[in-house]
Amino acid sequence: MSEHKIKIAPSVLAADFARLGEQTGEVEKVAAAYGVDRLHIDVMDGMFVPNISFGIPVIKSLAKVAQLPLETHLMIDAPERYLEAFVAAGSRSLLVHVEGAHHLHRTVQQIKGLGVKAGVVLNPATPASALEEILGDVDLVLLMTVNPGFGGQEFIRSTLPKIERVRMMIHEHNIGCELEVDGGIDSATAPLVVSAGANVLVAGSAVFGAKDGIEAALKHLATAADAAE
Ligand code: DX5
Ligand code: ZN
Repeated sequence: MSEHKIKIAPSVLAADFARLGEQTGEVEKVAAAYGVDRLHIDVMDGMFVPNISFGIPVIKSLAKVAQLPLETHLMIDAPERYLEAFVAAGSRSLLVHVEGAHHLHRTVQQIKGLGVKAGVVLNPATPASALEEILGDVDLVLLMTVNPGFGGQEFIRSTLPKIERVRMMIHEHNIGCELEVDGGIDSATAPLVVSAGANVLVAGSAVFGAKDGIEAALKHLATAADAAE
């Protein structure tokens, strides 16, 4: 049923945490129809970013009920301290910031050694060139299109040329790595990032905060993304 080339990763940061299982269940019911192939989980420590979200126990509970794989975006200092714990909790991929991992190559190898997918994340001001020596080792690159720390922020347009550059680098290296974007993605910005080369879209507020409900929101987003392909 899903012919969508563009994947959507709903970010549960924008969900109602008192109804987390119910809301992710709502996403999962219609996931296949709109190219939703994972749930995006934002972990924040109040140090790497100026906000605290939730951690291991919440992921553990969600993993028990979730059908879709959990992708965990670690916005924490020295993430290497917690890789095992996040995998044990049920994460199927771990995304670490190049700005927060002192020994990025080692951290990426550790993640892969735990049997899950490894991704690296770049903040808006971090240049694409920071990926050069690690690109061949990762399953996914996540480009932040807002400064990390909060949902519901405005998309930063100056990240578009970087998305194009990274798409080119992936092409030149001839690797099958995914190119995901995160922050301020809705049906207005989705076509821009897809045209620039993104193939996975994280969306929090546009999915869980939508006035007309989760299914309508996913439909709008998938339609907007597909129109730009
Ligand atoms: C921001 C997080 C995002 C956030 C996106 O630091 O990494 O995943 O949930 O939220 P929206 O889609 O509302 O910008
Ligand atoms: Zn995120």
